[in-house]
Amino acid sequence: MKKKVLLMGKNGSGKTSMRSIIFANYVARDTRRLGATIDVEHSHVRFLGNLFLNLWDCGGQEAFMENYFASQRDNIFKNVEVLIYVFDVESRELEKDMHYYQSCLEAILQNSPEAKVFCLIHKMDLIQEDQRDSLFAMREDELKRCSLPLQCRCFRTSIWDETLYKAWSAIVYQLIPNVRQLEMNVKAFADIIEADEVLLFEKATFLVISHCERKPHKDVHRFEKVSNIIKQFKLSCSKLAAQFQRMEVRNSKFAAFIEYFTSNTFIMVVMSDTTIPPAATWLNIKNARRCQK
Ligand code: GTP
Repeated sequence: MKKKVLLMGKNGSGKTSMRSIIFANYVARDTRRLGATIDVEHSHVRFLGNLFLNLWDCGGQEAFMENYFASQRDNIFKNVEVLIYVFDVESRELEKDMHYYQSCLEAILQNSPEAKVFCLIHKMDLIQEDQRDSLFAMREDELKRCSLPLQCRCFRTSIWDETLYKAWSAIVYQLIPNVRQLEMNVKAFADIIEADEVLLFEKATFLVISHCERKPHKDVHRFEKVSNIIKQFKLSCSKLAAQFQRMEVRNSKFAAFIEYFTSNTFIMVVMSDTTIPPAATWLNIKNARRCQK
């Protein structure tokens, strides 16, 4: 099953950087070496078994943009499942950015009216921390208004922190075909073993694809933080030619168990019942894995 994902936005807004970090194991500092994308760069990413993401990274220089809306219109905008539009938060040409975004929406409305639209207000690290919330709220409001009749979801992102994982987890979540079933299975497993929380991560990207929370947690950003930390750890392991397979983290209040689960996923189980021996949880994960086969 192939799903076409369009990645668009002005040149230098950070499209290739985020694609390389999420799908090609780059670390943030490596992206400084990336050159401008010429025309469209296609990549096919295997994501969860038989789901393939067909990523179209569209170079954002003006000459290319004009071409997408004219001679390449059908080719670019047909059969799109998801449009991701990246805005450089520090752009000095906001009006031009909005003009291109609206041209993009027009073309999507004509050619792929069912496509889901995501706007990423990117490079948020360049904005002072105390101004980020208000600036994002203002941009989000404006984008939602000018996207009508299409609905768009907005995220603030930066390659220098975990926000990138939050946005991309939400994006791929839209593309997974049997996501409800997956969610029900995760919930059933969490209930049986009385876990506080169970998460499933896609193996290569470490994006969260499903989760069940049985005990409320204060930190709403914990998923993307875990994605970011484990991905970095996994990359460090691969530098030493070691393969990351499992990890157990514990303190006096809880224990987290992370292990490869199926050929495409890792699982994380969080338990706060310290009377349950860790070996029992590892065994439960092993048994659940057997049921998946
Ligand atoms: P075109 O291919 O020309 O359309 O550009 P692009 O949108 O693919 O931009 P690219 O990913 O090449 O990034 C341009 C520059 O922005 C690089 O030097 C990146 O390191 C930098 N960059 C990307 N994301 C971020 C971010 O979140 N914060 C900061 N500060 N810089 C970023």
